[in-house]
Amino acid sequence: GLRSFLRPPGSGKGTQSPIIKDEYCLCHLATGDMLRAAVAAKTPLGVKAKEAMDKGELVSDDLVVGIIDEAIKKPSCQKGFILDGFPRTVVQAEKLDEMLTKQGTKIDKVLNFAIDDAILEERITGRWIHPPSGRTYHMKYAPPKVPGIDDVSGEPLIQRKDDTAEVLKSRLEAFHRQTEPVIDYYYKKGVVSQLHAEKPPKDVTAEIQKSLS
Ligand code: AP5
Ligand code: ZN
Repeated sequence: GLRSFLRPPGSGKGTQSPIIKDEYCLCHLATGDMLRAAVAAKTPLGVKAKEAMDKGELVSDDLVVGIIDEAIKKPSCQKGFILDGFPRTVVQAEKLDEMLTKQGTKIDKVLNFAIDDAILEERITGRWIHPPSGRTYHMKYAPPKVPGIDDVSGEPLIQRKDDTAEVLKSRLEAFHRQTEPVIDYYYKKGVVSQLHAEKPPKDVTAEIQKSLS
């Protein structure tokens, strides 16, 4: 089946997805990760996406829908997938419905990572990531064994360019204006589960497992 993880920047989508992916053998498709990889590789998609991402604004629906359409057709994703950070607009949600209907499937569950905006700045500014694996750390809440170094590979960690207090303001504005209506869209379909995303990571994992069981 398919699940979509929606919610604001820093609410824990990227932290929880790898855990859930392994447990349920789902493919993890994070539009933000895919776009950052395209920017780093300077592909035509990356060149088009960079400006909006740096400002904390959403990338155009056409670009994002295109990468998801390609990804969900991959054989490795036929068992089902987690969509992390997608759909982010009602237009994206409608396009996704069309794509899935063609494949004879649909979204089973939308997990709403409910959290207060006030908590997010500390989470975002303290985040360190290992892009090749998607592993995420936090200076205070999930520190690596050696500061600045990935626990598993020994490679350096980096901070995201948009993880500043200032860019976070635009990201939150985009979230409230463009993504909150998507949650209503799925509420009407009766597929939304609420999570308490302000709790410690382990508790959030337990809530996700409960809502998927
Ligand atoms: P994207 O990469 O999706 O970023 P985002 O939505 O801003 O979400 P984040 O990755 O910041 O948050 P997260 O929930 O994954 O947090 P995490 O688990 O790491 O998008 C980036 C940009 O790409 C967008 O601005 C846009 O330009 C573009 N884009 C992407 N998708 C798009 C789309 N569909 N349409 C248009 N444009 C799109 O946690 C954060 C930190 O907190 C970590 O350090 C973590 O260790 C820590 N933490 C996590 N959980 C807890 C906890 N329970 N307690 C304490 N600390 C915790
Ligand atoms: Zn993320």
